Amino acid sequence: MNLTQADQAMLDGSFGPVVQKAMRMVAALGKIFGANELVPVGSAQVSGVSYKNLGDAGLEFLEEWAAQGARVRVPALMNPAGMDLERWREMGISAEFAARQQRVVAALTTMGVTATCTCTPYLVGYEPGAGEHLAWSESSAVSYANSVLGARTNREGGPGALAAAIVGRTAAYGLHLPERRKATHLIDVSCALAGPADYGALGYWVGGQVADGVPYFRLHAPGRRPEQEELMALGAAMGASGAVALYHIEGVTPEAEFARSALKDCAPTRLVVRDLAAAFAALNSPLEHIDFVGLGCPHCTLADIERVAALVKGRRVRATLWVTTSRGVAARARESGAVDTIEASGARVFADTCLVVAPVEELGFRAMATNSAKAAFYAPTHSRIERRFGTLEQCVAAALSGEWPPQDAVAGSGSCCA
Ligand code: F3S
Repeated sequence: MNLTQADQAMLDGSFGPVVQKAMRMVAALGKIFGANELVPVGSAQVSGVSYKNLGDAGLEFLEEWAAQGARVRVPALMNPAGMDLERWREMGISAEFAARQQRVVAALTTMGVTATCTCTPYLVGYEPGAGEHLAWSESSAVSYANSVLGARTNREGGPGALAAAIVGRTAAYGLHLPERRKATHLIDVSCALAGPADYGALGYWVGGQVADGVPYFRLHAPGRRPEQEELMALGAAMGASGAVALYHIEGVTPEAEFARSALKDCAPTRLVVRDLAAAFAALNSPLEHIDFVGLGCPHCTLADIERVAALVKGRRVRATLWVTTSRGVAARARESGAVDTIEASGARVFADTCLVVAPVEELGFRAMATNSAKAAFYAPTHSRIERRFGTLEQCVAAALSGEWPPQDAVAGSGSCCA
């Protein structure tokens, strides 16, 4: 691998032992994946922030690096933590978990990583430009940055993203290279898609088929252009059921035209999606009673939160309802009055965390409803909780009644195939 003088100096230890360790990590990844060089990154997004996932070994690793003087050279952002850093008591989080979680955030903050605690940094001022190299690590954030914004990032592991932030560079392999961004699978979707839950179900199914391929979607049913929340849901689900870090949608995403060239050059695997019934069925346990409703995976947009507020306005929830988002979006929703409306119903808007990385299984919940295919995919294994998956309207109806509603009983449920 060709290293610049500065790269080599870091590797030789001229910038100190912790920079040397970080550069060794970045260079080793480059060697494993056959990179020819390192490229500068505009930002890093570091996953493995939740103490639930990190454990004591991860916490000690971060504290050791912070104590040794590791400092980031480029803007670096934290993925969600295991709790709302301010309102963790209201979530039912134990003092012991909270103390360790705070140590994780403190160690990262010492190294210069900003406590954005979100998988949607692009909603709070960190929107990378097209073609910009990144070292992001949370799968939905990686998918959005690559596919919707046209930036270039592999799905880094948490330590790899931190190391890249410390040296300001990453190895140029995988999705940093234009030829690896061409489509590998052609996905013809003939059914209508009517909201984020449908896009999530589609993503769940396609992710299971294409693994780490690059799907190219053609949406044939007449309809509107996909909205931001729909693109977020699609990418999040494909990153969960598969390892998709980049997708293209004809006429929608910025590199779709370029990606088409691969379709001409070779005969890619073609898949046809005629309905989503099997995907919805796979993500639904046969539950009627619901005690927990989780919205915000990926973290809610302001529009999502305002939709929830309109649905619960003047009513009381029977099940626990969490709306999770970034602190930046929560502040905007507070200004708009949406947070007060939601919380007057008994629901809560929590920042910094999400229903997957919070220790939900320790809070006594048994039956969850969510509008996130990603969260529904992980619930039985990651949080040991059964789940219902449907639209935001269905989920809010479940929170209000404590029962999973029949599909046709919910105005605006919208899904064509559930
Ligand atoms: Fe984000 Fe947590 Fe879901 S990190 S994509 S809200 S699992």
